[in-house]
Amino acid sequence: MTEITVPPGGWFSHLFAISADPLHTIAAWAEGADGAVRIPWPVPGQRSMLITDPALIEEILVRKHKHFRKDWFTRRLSNVMGDSLVTAEGETWRRQRKLAQPAFHSRQIDGYARVMVEEAEACVAPLADGQALDLNAEMMALTLRVVCRALFGARMTEDIHGVAEAIEAYMRWYLGVGGSGVPLPDWVPSAANREKDAAIALLDDVLARLIAARRAEPADDLLSTLIAAVDEDGGGLSDRELRDEAATLMLAGHETTAQALTMGFFLLGTHPDALARLHAEVDALEGPLGLHSLAGLDYTTRVFKETMRLYPPVWGIGREALEDVTIGDLPLHRGDQIWLAQWAMHRSPRFFDDPLAFRPERWTPEMEAALPRFAYFPFGGGPRVCIGQRFAMMEGALLLAALARQARFEPQSPEPPELLPSVTIRPVGGLPVTVRRRT
Ligand code: HEM
Repeated sequence: MTEITVPPGGWFSHLFAISADPLHTIAAWAEGADGAVRIPWPVPGQRSMLITDPALIEEILVRKHKHFRKDWFTRRLSNVMGDSLVTAEGETWRRQRKLAQPAFHSRQIDGYARVMVEEAEACVAPLADGQALDLNAEMMALTLRVVCRALFGARMTEDIHGVAEAIEAYMRWYLGVGGSGVPLPDWVPSAANREKDAAIALLDDVLARLIAARRAEPADDLLSTLIAAVDEDGGGLSDRELRDEAATLMLAGHETTAQALTMGFFLLGTHPDALARLHAEVDALEGPLGLHSLAGLDYTTRVFKETMRLYPPVWGIGREALEDVTIGDLPLHRGDQIWLAQWAMHRSPRFFDDPLAFRPERWTPEMEAALPRFAYFPFGGGPRVCIGQRFAMMEGALLLAALARQARFEPQSPEPPELLPSVTIRPVGGLPVTVRRRT
């Protein structure tokens, strides 16, 4: 029998708590709940449920995924992503996933190891000993360069600054929507909407040029693979679909990894033993890093996994029930809002010993085999599992290693930064660090 808890208080106090401090509120609701939490909700006839049983999460994401669609916050992204992999539903999504999948086959992704190492080395080389910097901004710029080179080849270099600014401007608008107050409709000519429209127009312009160039002259990049993809009817992606996929991959593929790297370096900077183990591992690797190095980066990979446990870049997944459906023995109604929160599950003592401790060594093959499938799901699951998972895992290990070979980053405060949850969780005010070069 699924246990349903209801946190005390009315919908107003819950709405206020979740707007003011989503991470603590979600963790507090989930604490001790071993099934589902029914959150008092202001919309008549619509309920809101936080699911805390991994078996029920599996049912929603895997076995009964057809009964759900993405939630309102994800759907809002369609003004920049269009009707693309992240935002599309049903047949439109299935066709796009099929066409995009070849671009993410391991053979293709493995080819980007060199780009990842090159970009990481170019990022760390100019940093001076004692220099202060915002590591979060640095990681955002680095992962944007990596994903853009993988997507568009070398051509992106000249547009990268404009694109980075446009994405930041868009995210400011999105954060305003997700974080506070009542969002204004897109057509209201408010300053925020105008800034967002200008950012989307800049992205449209850059992407149109890149797509035209790649149609004329294919290269060894993800965009060319997407252009070459054909479905069973012999049709491929239109220019509009290519634009939407490219914008989606740029957005989904850089901020997530950047947040994991930022928090990874924060945890290493505040856990000297773990840092020493990671240094011993990367220093033992000879010659330039690349795909071949991954086999020797076992501890580094565990650091990345443990970071995504404590600080899952995607902290929650939202779904809306499309019809009445029963999950386990829990009846859900059409329109119910469903929350699956990595943030709460990954930090639960039900699944992890000493859950708030940073212990990369816990990630043994035995521990992974014994872990319930959806107690840890940084990349989601089921048909809509992250298409970039392999790319991200490889990027995480290679970037941590390539940067740690040359420098360590001393956080200016040992206290975890305040986090702002949006699509990802971002440190408020960045992550100020002092660079220490390694000899
Ligand atoms: C540490 C890095 C990453 C994390 C934690 C992450 C997490 C996720 C999660 C949780 C989802 C599922 C969302 C849902 O079910 O509603 C997702 C979907 C997606 N991710 Fe990632 N992601 C990462 C990196 C990447 C990269 C590098 C790319 C592309 C280069 C990417 C592209 C996508 C796309 C296109 C989807 C939508 C897939 C679909 O619905 O078919 N992600 N990601």
